[in-house]
Amino acid sequence: MPMSRLFKLLALAAAMIPVSALAEVTFTRDVAPILQAHCQVCHRPDNIAPMSLLTYQDARPWARSIKQQVMQRNMPPWFIDQHVGIRKFKDDPSLSEQEIATVTAWVDAGAPQGKPSDMPPPRQFEDADKWHIGKPDLIVSMPVEYTVKPASSDWWGNFIADSGLTEDRYIKAVETKPTPGGIRVVHHAVTSLVYNDRPEGGTLNEYAVGKNGDIYPEGSGKLIKAGARIRFNMHYHAIGQPITDRTSVAFVFYPKGYQPQHVINTMLSPNNDDLDIPAGADNVRSDAYFKLEKPARLTGYQPHMHNRGKAQCLEAIYPNMTVEQLSCVNRYNFGWQIAYNYADDVTPLLPAGTIIHTTTWHDNSSKNPFNPDSRNWVGFGNRTTDDMSRAWLNFYYLSDEEFKAAVEARNAKQRELSSQR
Ligand code: HEC
Repeated sequence: MPMSRLFKLLALAAAMIPVSALAEVTFTRDVAPILQAHCQVCHRPDNIAPMSLLTYQDARPWARSIKQQVMQRNMPPWFIDQHVGIRKFKDDPSLSEQEIATVTAWVDAGAPQGKPSDMPPPRQFEDADKWHIGKPDLIVSMPVEYTVKPASSDWWGNFIADSGLTEDRYIKAVETKPTPGGIRVVHHAVTSLVYNDRPEGGTLNEYAVGKNGDIYPEGSGKLIKAGARIRFNMHYHAIGQPITDRTSVAFVFYPKGYQPQHVINTMLSPNNDDLDIPAGADNVRSDAYFKLEKPARLTGYQPHMHNRGKAQCLEAIYPNMTVEQLSCVNRYNFGWQIAYNYADDVTPLLPAGTIIHTTTWHDNSSKNPFNPDSRNWVGFGNRTTDDMSRAWLNFYYLSDEEFKAAVEARNAKQRELSSQR
């Protein structure tokens, strides 16, 4: 082969290797932007994460652990199986394959710092008391503070507060949140509406570590009636030092007199309270079914299990008996209660008669790091040491005409997209 041709071939081969594979991956240029975008919201001083990842000096000692956590997709916390069912969500914090490859390459190269001049300016953070739903029109707090003693067992209980509302209002968004310092002890907080001393108004919203508020799709909302009271169902967890909390719930209203076209339901899916998890057993399956009597749009989903929870899948059994997998949370992590809100253009449109089927798996073996005691049989109950196999479902009903129109609009969009390809 003549030299010039060989040379051309070599040049061609070199051109095909992506630049990133040739250049060294550095902290300041490649990794810091990823940490800023995906990690620092929790990993900074006085927040919920155990260490800061703001600077090279902060991050360097954690390099190996960072590689492991991002490769296993444990961090950032987002436990949906990205290969199954619906793949587009609102507020998806997860890393792309490319970002994971960058972090991994950096650690494998010995976690070099790189040029200090490549370091992006520090990310600015909002105050800890910021609401993610925008500026609230109404904030209702627990009537009293609760102090969690340094060493105490888990505590469950209810607080009831007056909303102070003197007229009916439709809400556009809702967010439940501990006081900034309380973030470290509030395991969960579920807010619901109370009328006439009974929780008749339904659930508003659930707070759990790392969760933001619910913003309802345009044109939909929830109703709070005049005189409503708010119930805070709290679960506190001690951390070895006294911590005081007074959780609040905030609302953004629709303008006065505005009536949203759709009213959102937040429902805890029916439970199979015959849950039967033998001592030491793994992959214990249970099933629950819920039938939609009217057409509906499902806007979000959140699995709800306790210590032994392992995985949960959600599927739709259509009236024509075809089955569609909607979502699977394949690495359920009890420490993180995460809501998965579907992107507007992929929210499941479910015809009347659809059965929503949840399949849940529990792990009661000693391999489960959250298992307090694998020697116990476990059944349904409210204590953390009992278990559950439920799902929070956010949905609203549609009329038959609206449902038809929504399906047609989506099909048209699909055709448009595929003709563009
Ligand atoms: C929503 C808050 C949050 C986000 C976002 C987040 N983390 Fe974490 N991280 C935590 C908390 C809290 C822990 C402690 C363990 C737990 O509770 O799961 C943790 C633990 C870790 C650990 C293990 C520390 C140890 O003790 O070994 C590593 C490593 C880590 N995170 C890296 C990251 C990286 C890298 C990102 C971004 C790609 C990230 N985290 C995003 C909250 C977060």
